[in-house]
Amino acid sequence: MHLLETRGLTHTYRGDVRALEGVNFVAGRKSRIAIIGPNGAGKSTLFKHFNGILKPTSGEVLIRGGEPITNENVREVRKFVGIVFQNPRRPDLLPTVEQDIAFGPINLGLDEATVAHRVEEALRLLGIEGLRERVPHHLSGGEKKRVAIAGILAMEPQVLVLDEPTAGLDPPGVADLVRFVNRLPEEYGMTVIFSTHHLDLVAEMADYVYVMDKGRVVGSGTVGEVFARPELLARTRLDVPPIPKLIRSLQENDVAIDMAYTYEDAKKAFLEAYARRR
Ligand SMILES: Nc1ncnc2c1ncn2[C@@H]1O[C@H](COP(=O)(O)OP(=O)(O)OP(=O)(O)O)[C@@H](O)[C@H]1O
Ligand SMILES: [Mg+2]
Repeated sequence: MHLLETRGLTHTYRGDVRALEGVNFVAGRKSRIAIIGPNGAGKSTLFKHFNGILKPTSGEVLIRGGEPITNENVREVRKFVGIVFQNPRRPDLLPTVEQDIAFGPINLGLDEATVAHRVEEALRLLGIEGLRERVPHHLSGGEKKRVAIAGILAMEPQVLVLDEPTAGLDPPGVADLVRFVNRLPEEYGMTVIFSTHHLDLVAEMADYVYVMDKGRVVGSGTVGEVFARPELLARTRLDVPPIPKLIRSLQENDVAIDMAYTYEDAKKAFLEAYARRR
């Protein structure tokens, strides 16, 4: 069953700005999906259609196996699809991080004990227990990002959408995020959809990739399929990460080694190639 689907989705902003044109997108259960494309490709606009923040100019957005988003179910839809936006979601009005994270679950009408439990879980998963008493407004950019993710996570959506989640995170912060996101499908049955300008993040955190350019999906496939199409990657204007670049160049020099995209897979491929030689 498709948890989330768009069919022929087109969006024109006021002033005749065509941001999306005929986008077909599907996300199944427990998937890890990356959306890549240059600035202005339409990634954030697409995300805003996933829970009814924007309405299609034409085409449709369907959830839970074919249900269209309407005024009647939009509240339900927002429980189902949680989005962490590229820019902070609302002004920081709440006095502590803990209360900030509780805001969403309270709005869902959950009882106090459940809210407290979810806030704890979210703080723990993001590794920000130490920030609980802090004033959200005073946090650093990367800390704010983690709090924003925790706030959405505490609403326990089936689909978690992260718009450029690593922007502003330091390298250990990125590594933590990758570990955290990769636990969500198996342990929590969630589907994760994210946008990024880093292909190494795609390799580490996605199974399936959509490539967007000028409001259209110009290609899609598994990570391996997309990385194997240099002409497609060129359209994203992203750098091919060092690992597949190095392995491709070794293959071109007749070294018998399997392609890999992540550090762990590359290590395995190198060790296997080495063992075969001896
Ligand atoms: N509120 C708006 N009003 C008018 N045009 C908009 C609005 N928001 C976005 N656009 C335009 O729509 C197009 C797609 O923008 P969008 O923010 O979806 O791109 P993006 O892929 O998320 O880019 P980035 O990588 O910079 O985040 C751009 O041409 C942008 O200028
Ligand atoms: Mg964007």
